Amino acid sequence: MTERTADPRIVPLIADRWSPRSFDGTALPADDLALMLEAATLAPSAYNYQPWRFLYSIHGDANWDLFLSLLVPFNASWAKDAGALVFVISDTMMRSPKGANPNHVHSFDTGAAWAMLALQALAMGYHTHGMAGVDYAKAQIELDVPEDFRIEAAVAIGRKDSPERLPEGLREREVISARNPVAHVSAAGKFGNLPTA
Ligand SMILES: Cc1cc2nc3c(=O)[nH]c(=O)nc-3n(C[C@H](O)[C@H](O)[C@H](O)COP(=O)(O)O)c2cc1C
Repeated sequence: MTERTADPRIVPLIADRWSPRSFDGTALPADDLALMLEAATLAPSAYNYQPWRFLYSIHGDANWDLFLSLLVPFNASWAKDAGALVFVISDTMMRSPKGANPNHVHSFDTGAAWAMLALQALAMGYHTHGMAGVDYAKAQIELDVPEDFRIEAAVAIGRKDSPERLPEGLREREVISARNPVAHVSAAGKFGNLPTA
Protein backbone atom coordinates (compact mmCIF):
# COMPACT_ATOMS: atom_id res chain seq x y z
CA MET A 1 0.00 0.00 0.00
CA THR A 2 1.46 3.38 -0.95
CA GLU A 3 2.10 5.67 1.95
CA ARG A 4 0.39 9.02 2.12
CA THR A 5 2.92 11.54 3.30
CA ALA A 6 1.57 14.24 5.54
CA ASP A 7 3.35 16.52 7.96
CA PRO A 8 3.25 14.78 11.35
CA ARG A 9 1.65 17.89 12.81
CA ILE A 10 -1.50 17.26 10.75
CA VAL A 11 -4.31 15.88 12.92
CA PRO A 12 -4.01 12.08 12.46
CA LEU A 13 -7.74 11.69 11.83
CA ILE A 14 -7.38 13.94 8.78
CA ALA A 15 -4.20 12.35 7.49
CA ASP A 16 -5.48 8.78 7.99
CA ARG A 17 -8.86 9.14 6.28
CA TRP A 18 -9.13 7.32 3.00
CA SER A 19 -11.83 5.73 0.89
CA PRO A 20 -11.79 1.94 0.66
CA ARG A 21 -14.28 -0.04 -1.42
CA SER A 22 -14.07 -3.29 0.52
CA PHE A 23 -16.71 -3.29 3.25
CA ASP A 24 -17.67 -6.26 5.40
CA GLY A 25 -21.38 -6.42 4.60
CA THR A 26 -22.62 -5.78 8.14
CA ALA A 27 -25.36 -3.28 8.87
CA LEU A 28 -24.31 -0.02 10.52
CA PRO A 29 -25.91 0.32 13.96
CA ALA A 30 -28.48 3.13 13.81
CA ASP A 31 -26.95 4.81 16.88
CA ASP A 32 -23.55 5.00 15.19
CA LEU A 33 -25.05 6.50 12.05
CA ALA A 34 -26.90 9.03 14.20
CA LEU A 35 -23.60 10.15 15.75
CA MET A 36 -22.01 10.59 12.34
CA LEU A 37 -24.96 12.64 11.15
CA GLU A 38 -24.78 14.76 14.28
CA ALA A 39 -21.09 15.39 13.58
CA ALA A 40 -22.07 16.48 10.07
CA THR A 41 -24.53 19.00 11.46
CA LEU A 42 -21.74 20.61 13.50
CA ALA A 43 -20.15 21.95 10.31
CA PRO A 44 -20.07 25.71 9.85
CA SER A 45 -22.38 27.26 7.28
CA ALA A 46 -23.15 30.72 5.95
CA TYR A 47 -25.59 32.50 8.28
CA ASN A 48 -25.74 29.16 10.13
CA TYR A 49 -28.36 28.27 7.54
CA GLN A 50 -27.34 24.58 7.59
CA PRO A 51 -28.35 23.74 4.01
CA TRP A 52 -27.44 20.03 4.32
CA ARG A 53 -29.97 17.21 4.27
CA PHE A 54 -29.22 13.50 4.56
CA LEU A 55 -31.32 10.60 3.33
CA TYR A 56 -30.03 7.27 4.54
CA SER A 57 -30.61 3.57 4.32
CA ILE A 58 -29.05 1.00 6.60
CA HIS A 59 -27.87 -2.24 4.97
CA GLY A 60 -30.84 -4.55 4.45
CA ASP A 61 -33.58 -2.15 5.50
CA ALA A 62 -36.70 -1.45 3.46
CA ASN A 63 -34.94 1.21 1.33
CA TRP A 64 -31.66 -0.64 0.73
CA ASP A 65 -32.38 -2.04 -2.72
CA LEU A 66 -33.78 1.29 -3.87
CA PHE A 67 -30.71 3.18 -2.64
CA LEU A 68 -28.35 0.72 -4.34
CA SER A 69 -30.32 1.06 -7.59
CA LEU A 70 -29.65 4.82 -7.58
CA LEU A 71 -25.88 4.28 -7.85
CA VAL A 72 -24.13 3.67 -11.14
CA PRO A 73 -23.54 -0.07 -11.57
CA PHE A 74 -19.81 0.19 -10.81
CA ASN A 75 -20.47 1.80 -7.44
CA ALA A 76 -23.35 -0.55 -6.62
CA SER A 77 -21.01 -3.51 -7.27
CA TRP A 78 -18.93 -2.72 -4.18
CA ALA A 79 -21.21 -0.42 -2.15
CA LYS A 80 -23.63 -3.35 -1.75
CA ASP A 81 -21.40 -4.44 1.14
CA ALA A 82 -21.45 -1.06 2.91
CA GLY A 83 -23.22 -0.78 6.24
CA ALA A 84 -25.21 2.27 5.21
CA LEU A 85 -25.73 4.54 2.23
CA VAL A 86 -26.36 8.23 2.61
CA PHE A 87 -27.49 10.68 -0.06
CA VAL A 88 -26.13 14.12 0.76
CA ILE A 89 -28.44 16.87 -0.41
CA SER A 90 -28.25 20.64 -0.20
CA ASP A 91 -30.93 23.30 -0.07
CA THR A 92 -30.00 25.64 -2.93
CA MET A 93 -32.11 28.45 -1.51
CA MET A 94 -32.03 30.49 1.69
CA ARG A 95 -35.61 30.64 2.82
CA SER A 96 -37.13 33.09 5.26
CA PRO A 97 -40.60 34.47 5.88
CA LYS A 98 -39.62 37.27 3.45
CA GLY A 99 -38.96 34.86 0.60
CA ALA A 100 -36.25 32.66 -0.87
CA ASN A 101 -32.90 33.68 -2.34
CA PRO A 102 -30.24 31.53 -3.99
CA ASN A 103 -27.57 30.41 -1.52
CA HIS A 104 -24.19 30.80 -3.25
CA VAL A 105 -22.48 28.42 -0.82
CA HIS A 106 -24.99 25.59 -0.46
CA SER A 107 -22.58 23.04 -1.91
CA PHE A 108 -19.59 24.45 -0.04
CA ASP A 109 -21.35 24.19 3.31
CA THR A 110 -22.76 20.74 2.57
CA GLY A 111 -19.31 19.55 1.55
CA ALA A 112 -18.00 20.69 4.92
CA ALA A 113 -20.73 18.66 6.59
CA TRP A 114 -19.82 15.49 4.71
CA ALA A 115 -16.18 15.96 5.73
CA MET A 116 -17.23 16.10 9.37
CA LEU A 117 -19.24 12.92 8.90
CA ALA A 118 -16.24 11.18 7.34
CA LEU A 119 -13.93 12.15 10.20
CA GLN A 120 -16.43 11.13 12.88
CA ALA A 121 -16.90 7.79 11.13
CA LEU A 122 -13.14 7.18 11.09
CA ALA A 123 -12.86 8.08 14.77
CA MET A 124 -15.48 5.38 15.42
CA GLY A 125 -13.60 2.73 13.44
CA TYR A 126 -15.61 3.01 10.23
CA HIS A 127 -14.63 4.18 6.75
CA THR A 128 -16.54 6.28 4.26
CA HIS A 129 -16.47 6.49 0.47
CA GLY A 130 -18.00 9.42 -1.38
CA MET A 131 -19.70 8.71 -4.70
CA ALA A 132 -20.54 11.06 -7.55
CA GLY A 133 -21.42 8.00 -9.58
CA VAL A 134 -25.12 8.40 -8.93
CA ASP A 135 -28.07 8.40 -11.32
CA TYR A 136 -28.98 11.90 -10.19
CA ALA A 137 -32.12 12.29 -12.29
CA LYS A 138 -33.51 8.97 -11.05
CA ALA A 139 -32.52 9.70 -7.44
CA GLN A 140 -34.22 13.10 -7.53
CA ILE A 141 -37.47 11.39 -8.55
CA GLU A 142 -37.26 8.19 -6.50
CA LEU A 143 -36.28 9.99 -3.30
CA ASP A 144 -38.90 12.73 -3.85
CA VAL A 145 -36.25 15.45 -3.69
CA PRO A 146 -37.74 18.86 -4.61
CA GLU A 147 -36.23 20.67 -7.62
CA ASP A 148 -34.61 23.40 -5.53
CA PHE A 149 -32.69 20.85 -3.47
CA ARG A 150 -29.54 19.45 -5.06
CA ILE A 151 -28.37 15.88 -4.62
CA GLU A 152 -24.64 16.45 -4.14
CA ALA A 153 -23.32 12.91 -3.82
CA ALA A 154 -23.84 9.61 -2.08
CA VAL A 155 -21.66 8.19 0.68
CA ALA A 156 -21.03 4.56 1.58
CA ILE A 157 -20.18 3.94 5.23
CA GLY A 158 -19.07 0.71 6.81
CA ARG A 159 -16.50 -1.50 8.42
CA LYS A 160 -13.51 -1.95 6.11
CA ASP A 161 -12.73 -5.48 4.96
CA SER A 162 -9.67 -6.91 3.24
CA PRO A 163 -8.98 -6.19 -0.45
CA GLU A 164 -9.43 -9.92 -1.17
CA ARG A 165 -13.17 -9.48 -0.74
CA LEU A 166 -13.23 -7.39 -3.91
CA PRO A 167 -13.17 -8.74 -7.46
CA GLU A 168 -9.86 -8.64 -9.27
CA GLY A 169 -9.38 -5.23 -10.83
CA LEU A 170 -10.63 -3.46 -7.75
CA ARG A 171 -8.18 -5.08 -5.32
CA GLU A 172 -5.17 -3.19 -6.59
CA ARG A 173 -7.12 0.09 -6.33
CA GLU A 174 -7.54 -0.45 -2.59
CA VAL A 175 -4.68 1.92 -1.77
CA ILE A 176 -4.18 5.16 0.05
CA SER A 177 -3.77 7.82 -2.61
CA ALA A 178 -1.21 10.61 -2.72
CA ARG A 179 -1.93 14.30 -3.07
CA ASN A 180 -0.66 17.19 -5.17
CA PRO A 181 1.85 19.27 -3.22
CA VAL A 182 0.36 22.25 -1.39
CA ALA A 183 2.64 24.52 -3.42
CA HIS A 184 0.86 23.33 -6.59
CA VAL A 185 -2.56 24.37 -5.35
CA SER A 186 -1.96 27.50 -3.34
CA ALA A 187 -0.35 30.86 -3.91
CA ALA A 188 -0.07 34.21 -2.21
CA GLY A 189 -2.22 36.82 -3.89
CA LYS A 190 -3.80 36.49 -7.29
CA PHE A 191 -4.80 33.45 -9.28
CA GLY A 192 -2.07 34.11 -11.77
CA ASN A 193 0.46 33.35 -9.06
CA LEU A 194 -0.63 29.72 -8.98
CA PRO A 195 1.83 27.44 -10.74
CA THR A 196 0.64 26.27 -14.15
CA ALA A 197 0.17 22.52 -14.51
C1 LIG B 1 -17.75 13.77 -3.96
C2 LIG B 1 -16.96 12.53 -4.24
C3 LIG B 1 -17.35 11.68 -5.26
C4 LIG B 1 -16.68 10.48 -5.49
N1 LIG B 1 -17.18 9.62 -6.42
C5 LIG B 1 -16.69 8.36 -6.47
C6 LIG B 1 -17.37 7.36 -7.22
O1 LIG B 1 -18.42 7.60 -7.83
N2 LIG B 1 -16.85 6.11 -7.22
C7 LIG B 1 -15.70 5.79 -6.54
O2 LIG B 1 -15.31 4.63 -6.58
N3 LIG B 1 -15.03 6.73 -5.81
C8 LIG B 1 -15.52 7.99 -5.73
N4 LIG B 1 -14.91 8.94 -4.93
C9 LIG B 1 -13.71 8.60 -4.18
C10 LIG B 1 -12.50 9.40 -4.68
O3 LIG B 1 -12.02 8.80 -5.86
C11 LIG B 1 -11.45 9.44 -3.56
O4 LIG B 1 -11.96 10.19 -2.48
C12 LIG B 1 -10.17 10.09 -4.07
O5 LIG B 1 -9.54 9.27 -5.01
C13 LIG B 1 -9.21 10.38 -2.94
O6 LIG B 1 -8.94 9.19 -2.24
P1 LIG B 1 -9.14 9.05 -0.67
O7 LIG B 1 -10.57 9.45 -0.36
O8 LIG B 1 -8.89 7.59 -0.41
O9 LIG B 1 -8.17 9.95 0.01
C14 LIG B 1 -15.54 10.15 -4.71
C15 LIG B 1 -15.13 11.03 -3.70
C16 LIG B 1 -15.82 12.19 -3.46
C17 LIG B 1 -15.38 13.11 -2.34
